Amino acid sequence: MIKKVKSITKALTSFAMSKSTSIWQFKTLHQLRFKFAALKHGIELNTSGQSTLFNLRRNIHRLEKGLSYPVAKEVFAEDYIVETIQFLKSAISKDVIDDDTLNWAISVLKLYFKTVKLSDKLKLIKNDFEQISSSFDYVNSVPYHSSTRPPITVNYEDLLSLSVRRRSVRYFHPEPVDIELVRKAYEIAKYAPSACNRQAFQFLFYNEKTIVDKLAAIPGGVSGYSLPSIMVVLGRYDGYFDVRDINAPVIDSSLSIMSFLYAAETLGMGTVCINWPNLPDREAQLRKVLNIDKSEIVVMMIGLGYPLDDGKIPFSAKRPNKSALLFNERKKLSE
Ligand SMILES: Cc1cc2nc3c(=O)[nH]c(=O)nc-3n(C[C@H](O)[C@H](O)[C@H](O)COP(=O)(O)O)c2cc1C
Repeated sequence: MIKKVKSITKALTSFAMSKSTSIWQFKTLHQLRFKFAALKHGIELNTSGQSTLFNLRRNIHRLEKGLSYPVAKEVFAEDYIVETIQFLKSAISKDVIDDDTLNWAISVLKLYFKTVKLSDKLKLIKNDFEQISSSFDYVNSVPYHSSTRPPITVNYEDLLSLSVRRRSVRYFHPEPVDIELVRKAYEIAKYAPSACNRQAFQFLFYNEKTIVDKLAAIPGGVSGYSLPSIMVVLGRYDGYFDVRDINAPVIDSSLSIMSFLYAAETLGMGTVCINWPNLPDREAQLRKVLNIDKSEIVVMMIGLGYPLDDGKIPFSAKRPNKSALLFNERKKLSE
């Protein structure tokens, strides 16, 4: 009898647990619906041939990696070379390709066809490529030896002092920042790493007071200070074809953001990241102010301005290295 009661209790407990888990899951899905909808729309755009530029960039990157092997394989990329030429053709005909991507794609494809052993099938694909590319002048943009990179002119101490100096600034002169400085800072941000070199994100800069004030009022993290200029960073899911990459645009854009913050600091600007909460009402409000595609998500906003000399900066003590950076620890394997 006691055994029976115990097993009934166990069954009821597990039912209650699963019920609460599913309620939790339902609430979470509901709250994150913009994000999931963006992922779904992005994947649809990507896989229906409407996102050729990101797919082209990914494949050219894959080709370049193959061409960078110490000894290139005689044959590789057979499973995606046809679609790569299709992506190139489509990006050119839709006029969505920029000069840098075009130079890069043509140079890498030329090198690819020069390097691999040409089967009859590859010869046909090569002809197709030559017809598409013959009318373009291009600047050769192919893999190069590590030793030919520009020399390091920034030393460790310089970088350390920049890291220590860059702190979140919240008190600014009222005038918006100069657009040219923002361009210069982005010039540095664009060299950040990104998944398969897609760079599936966009930085939207605003310095008109009406819109800046409207934007600053939405996320909720800007109380007690005002921003002269704002950057809204969007992640683009049309760069991706699978749910597994849900984090990729966030990671990629955040890496660029960090470079941007450092660059802004060297140019005399102060910056503060502004959290973008995953709250449907905020998403809806923002989408009333900005034209954001269904396949895009907001990663964060960045407030920018010229720091007030007497504006206070929170000390923001950092965690000690020993708690955040571990060496050869947390291993489960004994050897
Ligand atoms: C993703 C993210 C969201 C943030 N959101 C806000 C925010 O909404 N409002 C704000 O004043 N600061 C915000 N910050 C700034 C942090 O408070 C700040 O980076 C942190 O306290 C460390 O200080 P430091 O940047 O001066 O080193 C955010 C920073 C990050 C990276």
